This record gives sequence, C-alpha cells and structure tokens, in this order.
Amino acid sequence: MFKHDKLPLMEKPYSASCERNAKAICDVLKKIIGDNYTSLLELGSGTGQHAVYMAPQFPQITWICSDVKSNHEGINLWLKEVNLSNIKGPIEFEIGKDVFPSGVFDMVYTANTFHIMDWEKDKLFMQLCGNNLKKDALVIIYGPFNYNGTYTSQSNADFDIWLKERNSLSAIRSYEDVSKNMISSGFTLLQDFDMPANNRTLVFKKR
Ligand SMILES: C[S@@+](CC[C@H](N)C(=O)[O-])C[C@H]1O[C@@H](n2cnc3c(N)ncnc32)[C@H](O)[C@@H]1O
Repeated sequence: MFKHDKLPLMEKPYSASCERNAKAICDVLKKIIGDNYTSLLELGSGTGQHAVYMAPQFPQITWICSDVKSNHEGINLWLKEVNLSNIKGPIEFEIGKDVFPSGVFDMVYTANTFHIMDWEKDKLFMQLCGNNLKKDALVIIYGPFNYNGTYTSQSNADFDIWLKERNSLSAIRSYEDVSKNMISSGFTLLQDFDMPANNRTLVFKKR
C-alpha cells in the first residue's frame, strides 16, 4: 500500500459568521428580488453556506456559486450534502484572473469580499458588472463600510486593523467610493440597508 492511499478526507468548512448573518441577508433579498428575477451569480461563495441557506427560499432562482479554485472542494461538500436543484457551480471566478462568467445573470450577490479583495479588484469587479449585466440587473454587496471617512463602530475599526495586519491591501471600503464607482459603471443605488453587527447591504440596479 502507498502512503497516499489513506489521505484524510477534507472536513466540511464552517463559517460561524455566515451562519449568523444568513437570515438577515436573506430577509433583505426577499424585499428586493422580484418574481421576474431568475438567476443569481454569487461572487466569493466562501464555504457555500449562504447559497445552501438562501437558495431553497427562492425556488424560482438559479443560484450560481463561484469562488477561487481553492475553495471549490469545500463548497462542493456543502452542495453535495443538500443536493438542491437550483444551486449550480461552483464556477471559477477570481477577480483579476478570470473573465466574467458566460451566461445571463439578473443579479450578482457578494458578501464580505470587498474588504478582502484589494481596492483595484473591487473596482474591476464593479466594472465587470457594468460591462456584463443588462438593464435592471441588481448588484447586492454585503459587508462593513465606512461613511464620511469614519468607522461606524469601534468593532469595525478593530476589524480593519486586523484585516490590514493579515494583508496590507485589505480594508473596510468607503461607501462613497463604492457608490461612486457603481454609478460610473452604470448603476443607480436602490437601497442601503442597515444590517446587524454594523454591516450594510448595498443594492444597486443597472440603468
Ligand atoms: C471573507 S470570505 C467571505 C465568504 C462568504 N461570502 C461569506 O460571507 O462568508 C471572502 C471571500 O472572497 C473570496 N475572494 C478573495 N479574493 C477574491 C478574488 N480576487 N476573486 C473572487 N473571490 C475572491 C475568497 O475566496 C472568499 O471566499
């Protein structure tokens, strides 16, 4: 027998914050997703927990997970367990490396990615949405944001220090910078939802 015959199986990854915020985000999605929306591309699915929690609550929507390749194995473990027919993927979509996935998406949803990716990638993501989405498509961005150059809480200020220690290019982004870039990419701000734990959900619609 070769040594690698007994490689340990990967454990299903688990995100406690995903578990905590999934319901609040889903409640916002219920307010904004109309009956005529049928496909959603998720950028940076992470573990896949948001897809697994939310997709069953929108049976009319095909939820397409995406992330960098290294996260696919973990996402697949979650998807395999629930075996939901309206979740597809994960597809490989890394901002800065991959082109925008082919297909027609009426929504792009992303949670907790803007403060992880560097600002150039955030801007590229917004441009890609502008170049590839059709009129009335929604872009939904969840996470912490600063307003008027100020943290909205001490915990966000502490989180920002922690982020920058891990990666000097990660940071909590400015709501005004994000809005400005989304507007110049062809979107209008539809709503800015206050979320638990000093987070926001920004909803933009393609003009
Ligand atoms: C903090 S996790 C958030 C995961 C999940 N959305 C959540 O809310 O729990 C950040 C995610 O962004 C993804 N990510 C980082 N850089 C990326 C890039 N350049 N393109 C696409 N996804 C990226 C990571 O792989 C990871 O899944």
